[in-house]
Amino acid sequence: MNVNGRPMRTIWPAADCRAVEIIDQRLLPHELVVARLTTRDDVAHAIKNMAVRGAPLIGAAAAYGMMLAVAEDASDARIELSVAVLGATRPTAVNLWWALDRMRIALLPLPPRRRHEAALALAGEIADEDVALNRAIGEYGLPLIEAAWRRKGPDGPVQILTHCNAGWLATVDWGTALAPVYRAHDAGIPVHVWVDETRPRNQGASLTAWELQQHGVPHTVIADNASGHLMRHGRVDLCITGTDRTTAAGDVANKIGTYLKALAAHDNAVPFYVALPSPSIDWSLDNGDDIPIEERDAREVTHIAGWTGTGERVEVRLTPEGSPAANPAFDVTPARLVSGLITERGVCPASREGLLGLFPERDARAKALLRRAAFGIRRFVDTGEIE
Ligand code: MRU
Repeated sequence: MNVNGRPMRTIWPAADCRAVEIIDQRLLPHELVVARLTTRDDVAHAIKNMAVRGAPLIGAAAAYGMMLAVAEDASDARIELSVAVLGATRPTAVNLWWALDRMRIALLPLPPRRRHEAALALAGEIADEDVALNRAIGEYGLPLIEAAWRRKGPDGPVQILTHCNAGWLATVDWGTALAPVYRAHDAGIPVHVWVDETRPRNQGASLTAWELQQHGVPHTVIADNASGHLMRHGRVDLCITGTDRTTAAGDVANKIGTYLKALAAHDNAVPFYVALPSPSIDWSLDNGDDIPIEERDAREVTHIAGWTGTGERVEVRLTPEGSPAANPAFDVTPARLVSGLITERGVCPASREGLLGLFPERDARAKALLRRAAFGIRRFVDTGEIE
């Protein structure tokens, strides 16, 4: 997307292909700082301390982290260790493991001398694919906003509520939940976005507001607790959020607070959509309660960062000294509260049937795996041999 009129992505390989450059999102919206990451560990730190964040971007960053890892040492042991190091950064976003598995499977069969070049190419492919998937999400989500506009008639803009940041800053470009919003805005459909501040790290207040402002999309930042009230008073036409991991049965893990928005939306008959590229689907899980939920440092709750009038970044304490705090970073919204999933292949119900309708190859794969398992069991029963 454009920043001050210039197209920009959130991550890109440095010209010498021996480093990766990112927008350090911890300093937004007040400073636009490009950071240079030169080692695998730099990337791991950037994911852990959230200089880069958002499930699809975490996946792309991990892929580039593998590229930097094999630039230093292209051995099998290095690849295995780097998958473990990068994989240990954050537990909830499934895109992380999706990207690491893809890199590992592609690199191990290659001779070490070819691994850096191949890793660079594949990380670039994963980044470009992410952009294409998000564009498609924008196309398939647009009719949902158009329909809301038609329902409203002349009664002002389509009021969309979003939680956290699932815009282009959370991906390589275009975003997921915000992609249909950008498409609608660019198509001349009047939209207005209610932006949840999204405590405790305020991704909404700092990142979503910034990128909507950059694109000229009307928006209003609200306290997280204001959204139920706005829905109850008919000031929200639809909700669109992102996801860090959606199960094969449509349960959605996303930023803490998303579940509460879905409950309020359900109680007020406000459509609640979740936008996701397919790498955010965990086909090995049905039940959302099996998704690992990250617990982050309590300091993110007890303290808050901001900018003084003279442009310094300061952190201040909110809570009394010694008061304990807890900081679960994500929650799970059960499929029953999700009106639909907006994917790169279309919109479907939040269910196994819905997702397999758009991704039938996953059903075949699941069946093949089952057949294989059954064969293995039968063979063991017959011969006592393990396959
Ligand atoms: O902790 P974060 O900022 O990485 O959490 C991000 C979210 O919850 C996003 O909504 C999600 O990753 C989807 S991003 C397209």
